[in-house]
Amino acid sequence: MKLPKNFFKPLALGAPAPLRELPVRLERVIHFVPPHNEKVRARIKDTIKDVDVLLGNLEDAVPADAKEAARKGFIQMAKENEFGTTGLWTRVNSLASPWALDDITEIVGAVGNKLDVIMLPKVEGPWDIHYLDQLLAQLEAKHSIKKPILIHAILETAEGVMNVESIASSSPRMHGMSFGPADLAASRGMKTTRVGGGHPEYRVIADPDGGKRASSLQDLWHYSIGRMVDACAANGIKPFYGPFGDIADLEGCEVQFRNSFLQGCVGAWSLHPNQVEIAKRVFSPDPKEVAFAKRILEVMPDGTGVGMVDGKMQDDATWKQAKVMVDLARLVAQKDPARKELYKL
Ligand code: GLV
Ligand code: MG
Repeated sequence: MKLPKNFFKPLALGAPAPLRELPVRLERVIHFVPPHNEKVRARIKDTIKDVDVLLGNLEDAVPADAKEAARKGFIQMAKENEFGTTGLWTRVNSLASPWALDDITEIVGAVGNKLDVIMLPKVEGPWDIHYLDQLLAQLEAKHSIKKPILIHAILETAEGVMNVESIASSSPRMHGMSFGPADLAASRGMKTTRVGGGHPEYRVIADPDGGKRASSLQDLWHYSIGRMVDACAANGIKPFYGPFGDIADLEGCEVQFRNSFLQGCVGAWSLHPNQVEIAKRVFSPDPKEVAFAKRILEVMPDGTGVGMVDGKMQDDATWKQAKVMVDLARLVAQKDPARKELYKL
């Protein structure tokens, strides 16, 4: 553990100072694109307008013989476009792969001043973050990068889940974490073949009482997402749900995203354009809830004491929940004119 007095010091002479607070940004949807695909790159200008974060994926789903083309395609994409309020991220290959070092050094060298966040897969413990943190500081100093590039970890191994708290508190460069159900299932030896979502056989049933036994599905991911949300919230960083692999199952995707939203996640990945609108809808607060939250803030202007709204008791704790909701609605309204109307802000 670093000494508290050293925690916010730059890790290399000439690197920008680490941030004390995360930049306030709307990140409901992290849209994954394969940068080696020319057709995808040709459409990128329109995609940027449609999503909150555009992520060039270099890791899983990119074949070994396309790794270099993906890296080069990402650099080209980053150079040729203006991103405005849309975040520019990349998911590099894991630190244990032969590609990670070149991914990081070439991308920071070429487009480090445009890159907001590096997503690091298969993070096992704080040592992975410390390594990338130091390397980024050296590269930032070398290439005169103006603002620190943040790190976003994927929580997708059993060891990572075991170390989730120390990963979350490992560096001021930590932006947040995404939950990776596919690799996590593999790492744990779960008997599934899916990427996120429920499983028809993971259920509890009522006692036998002669008739048909009531039964309901359980959530395979509840425990780990809960741990991730607590670790992130306690450290002032952001938790996200990751991928939902059944592209055709829009309802399944929406339910998985919504469960994570209700648990505290602030966004999710989209692997296909048809998941973008789902993520934007789910991770924007419901206009009815926003209207109710505004009334709570109105009846308790300084956030203390007790008030009543529609017969329901309100106090400091509901005021804080209401503030989370209204602050998020304001952020959404800045980017999304249609929702701004609905929120009446
Ligand atoms: C994401 O990378 C996952 O493994 O689910
Ligand atoms: Mg994965």
